[in-house]
This record gives sequence, structure tokens and C-alpha cells, in this order.
Amino acid sequence: MTLRPHRDFLSIPDFSAAELEQLFQLAERMRAGRYHGQPLAGKTLAMIFNKSSTRTRVSFEVGALQLGGHAIFLSPRDAQLGRGEKAADTARVLSRYVDGIMVRTFAHSELEEIAAMADVPVIDGLTDLHHPCQVLADLLTVRQHIGDIASHRVAWIGDGNNMANSWIDAAAHLGFELTLACPRGYDPDAATIAKAEAVGARVRVVRDPREAASGAHVVTTDVWASMGQEEEQGARERAFAGFQVDAAMMRLAAPSAIFLHCLPAHRGEEVAAEVIDGPQSRVWDEAENRLHIQKAIMAALMGGESIEG
Ligand code: CP
Ligand code: NVA
Repeated sequence: MTLRPHRDFLSIPDFSAAELEQLFQLAERMRAGRYHGQPLAGKTLAMIFNKSSTRTRVSFEVGALQLGGHAIFLSPRDAQLGRGEKAADTARVLSRYVDGIMVRTFAHSELEEIAAMADVPVIDGLTDLHHPCQVLADLLTVRQHIGDIASHRVAWIGDGNNMANSWIDAAAHLGFELTLACPRGYDPDAATIAKAEAVGARVRVVRDPREAASGAHVVTTDVWASMGQEEEQGARERAFAGFQVDAAMMRLAAPSAIFLHCLPAHRGEEVAAEVIDGPQSRVWDEAENRLHIQKAIMAALMGGESIEG
């Protein structure tokens, strides 16, 4: 059990830019097979999933194992959380057993409540507001395929959702240029935009997806209806008409541009099959990078691995 002080990872600015650089380098050593530490030996990660998951669940579980530790999957179907036990009570109890807690849930405030009550590091595995592990994996993929993000332009096409908000956090924190094209009514979180503007971030929200894609080095999108918005699917399909990332949109981007998508994807909706299955797509490396960056995060927060910048 890790007692206070400990650190959480609830959103990207929880790590300084210098620490993020160290995390990326650590993840790259892990990806290259040049890291042989077992910093989680004898340690356990509890994983609370109030929403579905394939990548997050498997990559955290496999990552914990590869670092010498263990992960426990908790779903509302079988944990008392699903029968109304307060998240904060669960967090206090789990802190007596485990060395870290990963949470995927709806309200970001619930994640913050868990983090406030837990005595061990809490990691954001996606909320309605943010998906920071995924955006760090995306940035690792950018480093892998095109290099330093600071000199590249990112285009977000589609819903101003949790992924968009974490991309805004990343752009504000690391200083790269980000243009988001969102239909009116589907903008990213206003407070996240305001925070980015306050630090002079190079972040713009536009209405025309072609404007965002023009000259971009990274083109990225996500589903039009996120988990919890399934009943809005029809209305969203109408609102997002013209926002599909297809070959014509990719032709507006830089010739060397890569396409990213956090997955799961809906071919024929937010992305055309010719793009996600085409030569510019890096989505499989992106999914793999979840494992490497989360191992680096767990090693740092739960395993005492140094990420001093
Ligand atoms: N990208 C992502 O978080 O996938 P899962 O929902 O499968 O975990
Ligand atoms: N925006 C999507 C991401 C899934 C990984 C959702 O929240 O459902």
C-alpha cells in the first residue's frame, strides 16, 4: 500500500512537460525491450470499469503483469459499486488492499472524488471529460512515426468529446498547434478551452473539417456518439454529416500525414474504411502504445521509477 504523499494521473497537466518527456522515453525503452525492471513486483492495480473496454482493460492488466504486478478487474455487475456503494467508500477500502486504482467512469467528478479519498495513486482510464492515457499513447505514436510533436500540426475532426478535451490539454501543455473542427453544438469542454486560452495555447475550434485538415501532419477523429450517448446516435449522424475522414479529406493534409483513431471505430461514419485501413493509418501502433505508456505511468506512480525531468 502506498501512503500519502502519492500522485494521481487524472488529466495530462498532472505531469509536467519535462516529466512527460521522461515518460515517453521510458515507454520507448519498454517498447524496444530495453527495460527489464519489475517495479510492480508484489503490487496490485484495481481497475474499476463503469463503462465497456477492450484496450484499456487488457493493456493495463497485461502491463501490470509485465512489470511484475497484478491487476484486478471490477465491474458494476459484480462489485458493490453497482449496488450503490459510494465510490469514495470503495476507494478508501481498495486503498487498504492495492497499490493503485485505475478508473473508467462517467462523471469526471466521480473520478476526482475517488482520488480525493484514495491513499494510493489513481489513474484516469476515461471519463466523460478526459481520456489522458489514450492521448499520451497518441503522442507516443506521433513520436514513433513523425517525430517531435512541437513542430507538427494536429487536426481533430468531429465531436468535442473526452478525447478532444485531452488533446486540448496536451496542446496547451506541450505547445503544439491543434485545430479542432466540430459542428456547432458539439464543441469541446468550455473550461478546458478557457484554460488553454489562458496559457496562450495554439488551439482553435473551427466549423469546417477541411479547414482543420489542410496541411495537418496528424489527422484524428473518434466516434460521433461516445459511451453513454447511444440514444443520440441518429441526431449525431445528422449533425456530423460532412465530418467523415475520407481519402479526399486526407489529401488536404500534409502528404506525410498520419491518421489516428483511439478505437473502437465505426467505418462509414467518422472514418472511411479506405483511411483507417489505408497506408496513412497508424491505429494499430496507437493501440499498442497504450500498453507501453501505461506501463511507464504505472512504473512511475506505483513502482517508484524516476521521471524527474
Ligand atoms: N481506446 C480505448 O480506450 O479503447 P477501449 O474502450 O477498448 O478501452
Ligand atoms: N469517446 C469515446 C472513446 C472510447 C475509447 C467514448 O467515450 O466512448
